Formats: sequence, structure tokens, C-alpha cells
Amino acid sequence: MSSSALVGIDIGTSSAKGVAVDPTSGKVLAGAESSYPLSSPHPGWMEQHPQEWLTAVQLVLDSLKADVTEILGIGFSGQMHGLVCLDAAGEVIRPAILWNDQRSAPQCAALESGGGRDRLVRLTGNRALPGFTAPKLLWMRESEPAAYARIRQISLPKDYVRDRLTGGHRSDVADASGTLLLDVSERRWSGELLAELGIPLSWMPDLVESGDAVGTIEGVRVAAGAGDQAAAAVGGGITGPGPLSVVLGTSGVVLAATDRFLADAEGRVHAFCHAAPDRWLVMGVMLSAAGSLAWYHDTLLPGVDYDAMLEEAESVPPGCDGLTFLPYLAGERTPHVDPDARGAFIGLSVTHGRGALTRAVLEGVAFGLRDCLDTVRNVGATAERGRVSGGGSRSRLWLKTVASVLELPIEVMATDQGSAFGAALLGGVAAGVYRDVDQAADACVRVTDVIDPVSAWIEPYREARARFRDYYPALRSVSRRGTGPV
Ligand code: XUL
Repeated sequence: MSSSALVGIDIGTSSAKGVAVDPTSGKVLAGAESSYPLSSPHPGWMEQHPQEWLTAVQLVLDSLKADVTEILGIGFSGQMHGLVCLDAAGEVIRPAILWNDQRSAPQCAALESGGGRDRLVRLTGNRALPGFTAPKLLWMRESEPAAYARIRQISLPKDYVRDRLTGGHRSDVADASGTLLLDVSERRWSGELLAELGIPLSWMPDLVESGDAVGTIEGVRVAAGAGDQAAAAVGGGITGPGPLSVVLGTSGVVLAATDRFLADAEGRVHAFCHAAPDRWLVMGVMLSAAGSLAWYHDTLLPGVDYDAMLEEAESVPPGCDGLTFLPYLAGERTPHVDPDARGAFIGLSVTHGRGALTRAVLEGVAFGLRDCLDTVRNVGATAERGRVSGGGSRSRLWLKTVASVLELPIEVMATDQGSAFGAALLGGVAAGVYRDVDQAADACVRVTDVIDPVSAWIEPYREARARFRDYYPALRSVSRRGTGPV
């Protein structure tokens, strides 16, 4: 094969995925993937060893190198928020604590008490969520003081891998936004917050923009890259105001790109820097989107073909005759900000079969995305259409459901490799192939299909959504009974 390509690598939660992209057409020329384990040493804890990422990324890079004649630029994206701690020799001190780890709930509560929440939103644009980096560092200080005392630097997952390959200690402001230590509106570390929390500025990576070149791998220029959501937005051509990014991955996201900093006074959406200078993101995140369907399939229908399972759901009427699924299997961020929220099937009757259960899961996730959309709109972002990415976007039924619940047309893209694809475009910016991310997206991003809302489903979904919204507070008050003051 004779081809010059941009390479993007996404360091995800279950694997590193890489793509080689033709810089002129945006065609994906080759792909590679290498998985690694996720360990949960206690309920609610999620860890990975950074060495596993490095090994997987090297395998992916080697595989892509063999598939193209020349690599023009490399970009990285990755799971956000993970805490990697390094000692004076640059060695990893303990396994990384990941974005979906809930152990720092007490530290978050302490950070937010006594007016702390308003102050955090003012300094960083965001609330303290257990997934974010700073509360994990505070957990470590309290629970693992000997390990904490050895820390000299901290890194985010993809930054750790990239720094190992290129040298330096850096982060892009898009990924750094998820640490809860960045002044997102000013795109710099919050000196005030770092001092208040007793976290030395010397531990923090040097900040750059996502398309900045930060070094080379075998002579090829490497971009700083971005957190996976910002990278997926670039990969979907969402580089500024326009369509929304709708992600149906393990987690679910509704994201708007803005040309000014916007934040929710109560911190119900994430306010992050985008992967382009002078652009920001507002983002609603649900923790179990396609993750809910995967749990449902693996737990209740193991061995059943996914397509067959989804086909059974086709004939069930929208609203599932009163059956509702709450997708809070791993707690929830937007809009409830509640690590203890839990999932449920509610409204079961003997008339409900397997197809109804499946459809209720698809609908429950769509309702969660609508909660995200409403919260994103509430802070002032606008959009008339969404662009979907993530594994769940392979189901047409799910896309029709999401379009009808969001009441927006949903555009399907030529590639569903959102984050890795976006990372490749950032690699192109760093290598000088493109002037900026707008030019990269113009050259490479293609809409291949548009899924419109089904008009006959809109009303049933409005009714079903009203039920969905009432269930969380009702169940919350029951499950909290007897556990002390709410
Ligand atoms: C974003 C978030 C997830 C992770 C894992 O805030 O937590 O997108 O980055 O994909």
C-alpha cells in the first residue's frame, strides 16, 4: 500500500484504538486495537496500570506503521480525569484511578460544603465529582499518605503515554479541564485553588493547546491531543458553534462547542476548554449509555445476538406500554450529580416481553441524553441538530429513538471512530498539514446519513419522559430512608 496518513490513538477504558487517516479525504485507511484489563479492587473503585496503556499504544502504533508508507503526524486522545502519580524518578507510584471510580465521594462532599460548591464553580467552572482528578488526589492524601508523600508529578492517562514517548510533562487545556484544578475560563491552572488544597504547582503538567506540537516519535510530529470528548467533537466536525455532539458510548454525552466560556451556576454540566484555542465546551454526561445496553445484554441475554435482541424491540410501541428503565447503573452525573443513583425497571406487567425490556433500555438512555440536552441548552448553548458517535450509533432503532426523544435530526458520520479520528486531525494540525482544527474538519469530516425524529413517536415520548423524570426523585427519597439526613 502506498499512502501518507495521519495517525490518531485513543486510550480508552477498555482498549487503545488507533486509526490511520488520509489527510485529504478523511478516509480511514487502517485501524488497530489492543485491549487491557480494568481492575476493581473494591466496589466502586476502577483502576488500570499505566504500563498497560503504553504497551497497547506501542502495539497499535507498530500495526498502523506497517499499514501505511508514511506517517505525517500523530495525535492522542484518551479517557479523561484519570490520576497517574509519578515519583522523583518519573516512575508510576500506584495504579491509575480512573474517571469512573467513585471512591472520592467523601472528599467531594467536603470540597463542596460551606459554600465550597459555588467557589469551585467560580474558580473552575465545575463541581466536585468523584470522577474528577483533584478529589482523588485528596483521597490519596488521606488514605495512602506514604504513597502521596512520594508524588512529584501528576499526569492524565493519554498525557502519561505521550510524555513517555516524546519526553516532557505536558497537558492540553481540554483534558486538563477535567482535573478540577484548571481555571477553565482563563485556560490556566487555578493558583488560588492549588494553594488552597495544598497541591504544589510543580506537580502539574505544563499547559498547551491540543493542536500544539509537543515533540516527535521517530521523527514524526506529535500533537498534545485532547480528552476523548473534545477529540470526538473534533472528529465529528464540532469545532465551534453548530451541531451538537451526541455520544452513545459506554458513557453518553451531549456536548456543544461555544466561542465563549459558559458554565452552569450549579455545575450540572461540565464546562471545559475545547481542543481549539478560544473555544469551549459545555457537556452533559450520563455514566451508563451504551454501557446500560451492554450490562442488560451480558446479564440477561448472554449469548443472544445483538441484532436479534434489537429486532425484538422494533415491534414494541414507543413508551413501552408504561415500562421505564432508569440508566443510573453507575450513579449519574448530569443532571443529578449523584454517585449513589441506581438503575431500575419500573412499571412491569405480564404483557411485557423481552423486546419491551430491550426497548425500555434504549428509551431510558435516550431520556438521560435529553436531560443532558436540556441542561446544556439551559446554560445558553443552542443547536438544531446532533451528530452521533460511539458504538450505540450502529443501531438504527436507537438512533430513531434518540432523534425522537431529543426532537432533533441526528447526523451519522462516515466514521464512528470519533476520538481516535479527532486525534488524527489534531496530529495534522501539529504537523502543519492543516492551519487549524476548522480546516482539518472541513477536509475530513463527512456526514453520510441523517436520522429524523419519527413524528408519531414524539408525543408518546414526551409522556414517557415526564414519568422518567418523576421516578428519580421518588426512588431517591425511598432509598435514602433510614440512611440519615439527605
Ligand atoms: C468525560 C468522561 C468520559 C471519560 C471516559 O468527562 O468522564 O468521557 O473520558 O470516556
